[in-house]
Amino acid sequence: MSHDDFPTDEPAVVTCGLPYANGDLHVGHLRTYVSGDALSRALEKVGQQTAFVCGSDMHGTPIAVNADKQGVSPEEFALSYHEQYEATFPKFNVAFDNYGHTDDETNTELTQDIVRKLDEGGHIYEKEIKVAWDPEADTPLPDRYVEGTCPYCGERARGDECDEGCGRHLEPGEVEDPVSAITGNPAEYRDRTHKFFRVSDFQAYLQDFIDRLEGTANARNQPREWIEGELQDWCITRDMDWGIDYPGEGAEDLVLYVWVDAPIEYAASTKQYSERVGADEYDWERVWKNHGTADEPDGGEIVHIIGQDIIQHHTVFWPAMLRGADFNEPRAVMACGFVNLAGEAFSTSRNRAVWADDYLDAGFDPDLFRYQIITGSEFTADVNFSWDALQERVNNDLVGTLGNFVYRSLLFAERNYDGTPDADVSEEVDAEIKSAIDAVNDAVNDYSVRGLGQAPIELAKFGNEYIQHNEPWKLTDDEPERAAQVIRDCVQLAKACAVLMEPVLPGKAEALWTQLGEPSNVHEVGLDAALDAPPATFGEPDELFERIEDDRVAELNAQLEERVAAATGDESESDDSDEDDGAAVTDDLEPLTEDRISFDDFQSLDIRVGEILSAEGIDGADKLAKLEVDIGVETRQIVAGIKQLHDLEDLVGKRIVVVANLEKAELFGVESNGMLLAAGEAADLLTTYDDAVPGTKVQ
Ligand code: 2FM
Ligand code: ZN
Repeated sequence: MSHDDFPTDEPAVVTCGLPYANGDLHVGHLRTYVSGDALSRALEKVGQQTAFVCGSDMHGTPIAVNADKQGVSPEEFALSYHEQYEATFPKFNVAFDNYGHTDDETNTELTQDIVRKLDEGGHIYEKEIKVAWDPEADTPLPDRYVEGTCPYCGERARGDECDEGCGRHLEPGEVEDPVSAITGNPAEYRDRTHKFFRVSDFQAYLQDFIDRLEGTANARNQPREWIEGELQDWCITRDMDWGIDYPGEGAEDLVLYVWVDAPIEYAASTKQYSERVGADEYDWERVWKNHGTADEPDGGEIVHIIGQDIIQHHTVFWPAMLRGADFNEPRAVMACGFVNLAGEAFSTSRNRAVWADDYLDAGFDPDLFRYQIITGSEFTADVNFSWDALQERVNNDLVGTLGNFVYRSLLFAERNYDGTPDADVSEEVDAEIKSAIDAVNDAVNDYSVRGLGQAPIELAKFGNEYIQHNEPWKLTDDEPERAAQVIRDCVQLAKACAVLMEPVLPGKAEALWTQLGEPSNVHEVGLDAALDAPPATFGEPDELFERIEDDRVAELNAQLEERVAAATGDESESDDSDEDDGAAVTDDLEPLTEDRISFDDFQSLDIRVGEILSAEGIDGADKLAKLEVDIGVETRQIVAGIKQLHDLEDLVGKRIVVVANLEKAELFGVESNGMLLAAGEAADLLTTYDDAVPGTKVQ
């Protein structure tokens, strides 16, 4: 079965993986939320009725552990983060139609209903299993309360997940050589009775489901191995107080495993939205309840946007639960790559993170971040966030291309015609706008959020070439009709840019819409509005975007470096709970980049052997040093962040490796003319194996 293209007659729901209410949000966490927001806005634009929902994930052991450490109840602890998230998302223009949480009444009831149905359907059974136990604290050790060795790959693992090795979900009792995460003592295994969900009942169904699942290829391919193999049953209860009570006899002291009630919040949050606006406007049951057959469920269009580390939950356990409870199945799962910070993994324990508030406090518009993170790579690949990457995207694409085109067009139109000139749009421009609309339609149906970000920029690029080529400023006196025609086209293109940029740059689209004097709401118009005539008059425009200057980037980089340096000393005491939250946070080696460069690209780097002639710290900068480096043909002044990492006097006379043709930069007011190569956070300097003289080219 293949799905009809969007828009369909059924309502859609777009969901994002629920954030654990367990720590502050950093920009790495925001990737799925801004992408989900952009996709749901774009679905609306193509005419698909869509709800965009999410909620906080309140349960699970990390939250219970951290609440305990702080001496507060898990409920109080999780609620405070929930409220923080609810307030933060809108600041990034992430506009959920409903944002609930897993501990609320709607989710509790729906979860218990679904579990009861699974039980009634005979998919749940009871079994005595070995559960890790802390003999000293005399308490069971569910999930992350216990650590040990993965039985599948031998790597270090947590009780419920091989997070450092093969990535498998681990069942209670599986981890080998268990150690209590509470006391650090070896744990023992004791017999306990738990409830199991017989996932294997759904093997044949899952094999068909995965073939019709849309979204990103990784979400289809990764689970095939599990679905084709022997499907292990899933322990769905835990020996804990914090969580949703198991609804049934003989399990009074058990709560449901966090991964049971978490995805059900997708449906519960949709239900809350439906109840708020009324089922006539949006009916959650049309989306979530099965109107098809047992083998091929049908209903609305469910699209899940998640990180790639939780594919198994969304493509095996979750669809099996939905099927067992006679609910509809997901139409698509989109799994994104990780977010790195300036080329390395985020590390909250070293405070090497740009927190959501840091970004906002820096005073940048949220749309700039959205654009950078959405267009910085394909959705399935890792993406890099850095202040430099933000600057590059903003200055080139948003200021140089989009902002430049709409500002020059609207300014010219306002000065010469008080608004839109009285002329028809040319066929060429009409066709260009239609093809940009097609590109957005394709991006939606290909689940390409990057394509959504690229479409308006491509159109503005066309606009810049068009205005440059036609030079209306030369035509106003001698060929006024022709000039009016060209500017009419440009105003139409500017309006089309506003419509097309709305999913990714909603705030800026609104500003442009206002500048155009449009009476309607840019968030509510469809893509076809790009072809409707703009208002006849409008006022003087403002520039939509501002350049980000080099010294601002240097300042922000220095702040980050200093913070990392300050936190590094406290690392052993730090609370690294954020690294337990399933987000892209590890201190592991950075994955290899998939983007290959050509030999020619490599050749364009002028890398030389250099000899350090002098090295001294820069006053006022904690980390920066100024080096004089002989690179054979000349002596270069280079600024590097190595002040605290090396004994500067010892560096004199050392042969190092220098990128000589990097653009000059100014750091703390000191010019840097080249870059030395160094490995890792410790800035281990690259040097020569033999005795290549200064100036020798490295190739
Ligand atoms: O991995 C995580 O961060 C989980 N809190 C995601 C839950 S998504 C869903 F299934 F609810
Ligand atoms: Zn493993």
